[in-house]
Parts: sequence; C-alpha cells; structure tokens
Amino acid sequence: MVVFGGTGDLAMRKLLPALYYLHRDGHLHEGTRIYALARAQHSAESYRKFAKRHVSQYVARSDFEQSSWESFAARMDYLSLDVSQRVEFPKLTKLLKKDSERVRVFYLATLPSLFAPTVKHLASVGLADEYARVVLEKPLGESLLTANQINDQIGAVFDESRVFRIDHYLGKEAVQNLLALRFGNALFEPLWRNAHIDHVQISVLESVGVENRGDYYDRAGAMRDMVQNHLLQLLCLVAMEAPVHFEPEAVRNEKLKILEALRPITGMDVQDRTVRGQYAAGEHAGERLPAYYFEKRVDHDSNTETFVALKTEIDNWRWAGVPFYLRTGKSMAQRKSEIVIQFKPVPYRLFPRSGDNPENNRLVISLQPDEGIRLSLMAKSPGRGMGLQNVDLDLDFADAFKRRRWDAYERLLLDVIQGDATLFMRRDEIEAAWRWVDPIIAGWQDCYRSPKRYPAGSWGPDAADSLLERQGHAWLDQRS
Ligand code: BG6
Repeated sequence: MVVFGGTGDLAMRKLLPALYYLHRDGHLHEGTRIYALARAQHSAESYRKFAKRHVSQYVARSDFEQSSWESFAARMDYLSLDVSQRVEFPKLTKLLKKDSERVRVFYLATLPSLFAPTVKHLASVGLADEYARVVLEKPLGESLLTANQINDQIGAVFDESRVFRIDHYLGKEAVQNLLALRFGNALFEPLWRNAHIDHVQISVLESVGVENRGDYYDRAGAMRDMVQNHLLQLLCLVAMEAPVHFEPEAVRNEKLKILEALRPITGMDVQDRTVRGQYAAGEHAGERLPAYYFEKRVDHDSNTETFVALKTEIDNWRWAGVPFYLRTGKSMAQRKSEIVIQFKPVPYRLFPRSGDNPENNRLVISLQPDEGIRLSLMAKSPGRGMGLQNVDLDLDFADAFKRRRWDAYERLLLDVIQGDATLFMRRDEIEAAWRWVDPIIAGWQDCYRSPKRYPAGSWGPDAADSLLERQGHAWLDQRS
C-alpha cells in the first residue's frame, strides 16, 4: 500500500487508523507493507512517531494497544518524494522492486491536480503494470469537462478495472445495510414503487461548518462536495433495481441506470426545484457560530452554497411520479443523515381519525449518527372505540449487533486490496452524475441570485420547507 500524501490529513485521520484496525484484527496479509510518501523529510522512525501521535487521536482509546501499534508500525516505511518530479520516481521503484509481483495499491491522497503527474510518472518507471491499482479520492473534477480530463489522464495509464474511485459513503455499514434491507428481505420489494410510495427524502445534515477546509470548499460548495457524489449514490441505492449478482459490474450497471433516468433540472426549473443556502451567524446550544463568509480562507463576498435542497424525479416505470427530495447542509441544527420512505395513505379509511395523526406508514433509515430502521405503523389507541395512532417498530443496530462498527475506510481499503470494486464508482457513473449536476450549477450562475441565508445551527432556509409544502409534504424533522 503506497500512500501519496502520507503526511496529510486524510492519511492521519482515516487511512492509517483504518489500516491499524485491519492489522490489529488480523485482516492484513502478514507480508503487507505500507509506504507513506510525501515531500517532507522524515526517516522511517520519525515518520512512525509522527503517525503514532496522530493515529492515537483517531482510534478509540481502548482500541489503541501498544503491542498492536508496534507490530503495525513495523510494516510502515517512509519515502520523501516530490510527485511532480519524474526523476524522483526511480527511488520508489527501488523500494518496491523486491516485491515486483505483489499487488501494489497506489492511494492518491493528494490534490487532484497531482493525480495526472503521479500516474504518468508511475508508468514511466514501470510501476503501473498489471499488479498495480490506483485509488482516487474526490473531488474528481468540478464539472463533467474537468472530471473527464482527470479520468482520461488516469485512463491513459490504468485501465478501468484497476481504478478505484472512493465515495466513502458506500463504505459505511449503514449504507450497505440499505442494500441488505432491500435485497435481503422479501417484505419491502413489492411495495418499493410508485404504486405505494408517495415520496422519498434523503437528508445528509452536518452540524459542523467548513472547519479548516475553506479554500477547497469555497470553490466547491455543497453541490459538488456532497450532492454530486454522496447524495446521488444514496439515491441510487434507494432506487436501483436488484442487480443480477452482487458483483461490481452488475451493481454499477443498475446504479448507472438510475443516474441516467434522473429528470434533468435545467432553465427555469433550477429556480423552481432547487434551493441553495449559505449559513449566516447563528447559535447552537448557547454557543455563537460564525457566518460562512467569516470562516478561515473563505472569500468575504462568497456566494458559495453551504446548503442545497432539491426535488427530482426518476423517469422510469418504477418511480414515475414519485418526488425524491434531497437535502444537505453544513452548520445545521443537528448532525443527521437519514432516508425517509413515505408510503401512500390507505385506500379507504375504515376507522375514525384520531387527532391529527397522518395514517401513512413511513420507513426511516437512519445512517448517522445512530444507525437504525424505524417503521411507523398505525395501531389502535387503547380504550374505547377504534381510534388509531402512530407507533414505531424501532431497530437500533448498535443494540442488535454488539460488535464494533467498521469505519468506511476499513471496508473500502480491504476491498481495494482484494480487488473488489463493487463499492467504488465507475467512470460512467461519475460522468452521468456530473451531466445532471452541471446544468443546476449553471442555472445558479446565470441568475446572479445570492444563496439564501440561514442562521448557523438552524434547519436551513425557509425556502427548503416551501419546496415540499407546495406538494403537501414536509421534511420529517420539521413536522410538528
Ligand atoms: C466529505 C465532504 O466527502 O464528506 C465533507 O468533503 C463532509 O465536506 C464529509 O464533511 C461528511 O462525511 P461523514 O462521513 O462525516 O458524513
């Protein structure tokens, strides 16, 4: 495993902790070696110390064991290398030469602008052969055009079967559970269609602001940072047909069909069907929160959106007429990711209405911070008569499975090592996603309207509520 960007934030926060767990729990082959590469000067020993300081912060204290760390650190080596310099790559060849027929995973945890030179130089020193795989982190471009440029440059060196594009949402246990729920149970499938489902909500809300990533985020915004990848991938998993096999091409073919069936949002529809917002100063639990444009490394006149809500439809037989509402934002009232499947009402009301309870079943799949499934049903209210009220069937995965939940990167890194691309994005998926996202961003740019302000620590701009109210719907968290 060769990690470019080996001293960076991603390596420290996610990759090394994930590899540490895989090592500790016996999932790595005993010969597995980890080479961290970056420009900084380190000896192997000083790098291990540096890594220990960081990794111990990101691994649960009770899981950080001295003896496991030592045997893990013994797998690690460090090489100072400037990826923009072709002349530096022979050093890497020399290091990897003794294991020339072993699987080599090149993890590019660097700026995307370095992807092309890195793979070109790897090829030039003979390291991009059939034993090599490359892992790419988002952002993969800022538009269809720029994503294609990156993919062309990578594709010139690595064929598609050896390119692993990470969307870490697909590595989350709770997200994979969505597949288990849909395709491991006979119960839901007959109902999973427009005849029975009224609408779907997919929300990924974060309570944090942009933190230290202002320079990247201010160019990207929520649409490119979250919707183009994580939210659309969730939508695919909710909406796709059952794949013929649980293997990479079968799964990705089905996801692609959904992306291609998304109704385009263009022209005037952009104003009607999307809402973009930006957080203003606010307050949460008594703490004052800054406005987005006062965050570090953010332009004071920034028009970048930190919130998006939109309504889309999937033009196919299963989903025609069912609105899918997507929503994501930073500095929101709560950290919460969930999928709400709102079923249609009963065809005929037999029992008297009790209070204001809507008599519609609802399935809520919680992804984070808690993982669970909640099915709300109507039941008879105790006492006289036949008044009904909502009750929940509640399944909490932390209760159901006492084992430690794997971090997304543990699962994904192991999949790359084993060459399983099922949970990675194929090039055509990325392209289809950009093809759908580009006109929305263009529509926002054309209208010169600023994003709607919402107080940090709130549920986003009011316009996001109106978007649903127009159809007689409401975000689940906004219901009284
Ligand atoms: C990343 C985005 O892909 O996902 C971040 O770049 C975001 O802006 C993060 O905070 C959210 O991931 P998670 O796993 O914390 O929900």
